[in-house]
Amino acid sequence: MSQSRRPVIAGNWKMNCLRADGLALAEAVAAQAGQVDCDLVICPPATLLHSVHELVGETALGLGAQDCHYKDSGAFTGNISPTMIKDAGCSYVILGHSERREYHGETDADVQAKAKAAQQEDLVAIICVGETEAQRDAGDTMTVISEQIKGSIPTDSTSENTVIAYEPVWAIGTGRTASPEEAQEVHQHIRKELASALGEDFAAATRILYGGSMKPGNASDLLAQADIDGGLIGGASLNSADFLAIANAVSK
Ligand code: PGA
Repeated sequence: MSQSRRPVIAGNWKMNCLRADGLALAEAVAAQAGQVDCDLVICPPATLLHSVHELVGETALGLGAQDCHYKDSGAFTGNISPTMIKDAGCSYVILGHSERREYHGETDADVQAKAKAAQQEDLVAIICVGETEAQRDAGDTMTVISEQIKGSIPTDSTSENTVIAYEPVWAIGTGRTASPEEAQEVHQHIRKELASALGEDFAAATRILYGGSMKPGNASDLLAQADIDGGLIGGASLNSADFLAIANAVSK
């Protein structure tokens, strides 16, 4: 972590939590949100956004969605738009998660269009990139990451409306975390690519999160790396004590 970039710890709840559990989880996290040294964000499923916002909207806890369409409205059955997400009280949206890329065929161009639409709505786009195990084994990690960075990030992005999440696909939900050194190597590469695509100032100020089996036990070592500015947390964000322990690891 660097002193100049405020860390972000974001919880990606994925397709989990019914109303009662989701509200209880959000309330427990919100109760500590003012006490941590980072921007704390939760991204519940779309069904809970309005009610979570009503419950914790006045606290320091940020609220995000897990995807959005690139249009504001129209005949797109099953989709939700950046305007709707904003209307539900969100300030963030996760885009290009590997589960969206894999199960919904999202391309870099799709992710870029969605990010542009989200940024126009004053949402912070959390743009995910990451290589598969086969790509890593083939020695293609840096090439894959470079392509995703160039293709997925709108060229007029700012460091205020953009957060990058590096999530090696082989580490997501598997319990297999990238070692701090492996993660740092890719984060450093991402920052270099950001500099060549959007300039040195953008690269220096933009937060790059690590995601993939981040837990209370490995968070401080990952967060201690120079180019790791926080975490995008899946499984461990469903338990308020674990999620808050990761947020507290930021200041250690
Ligand atoms: P995980 O998920 O923490 O459960 O590995 C991370 C993510 O997919 O964002």
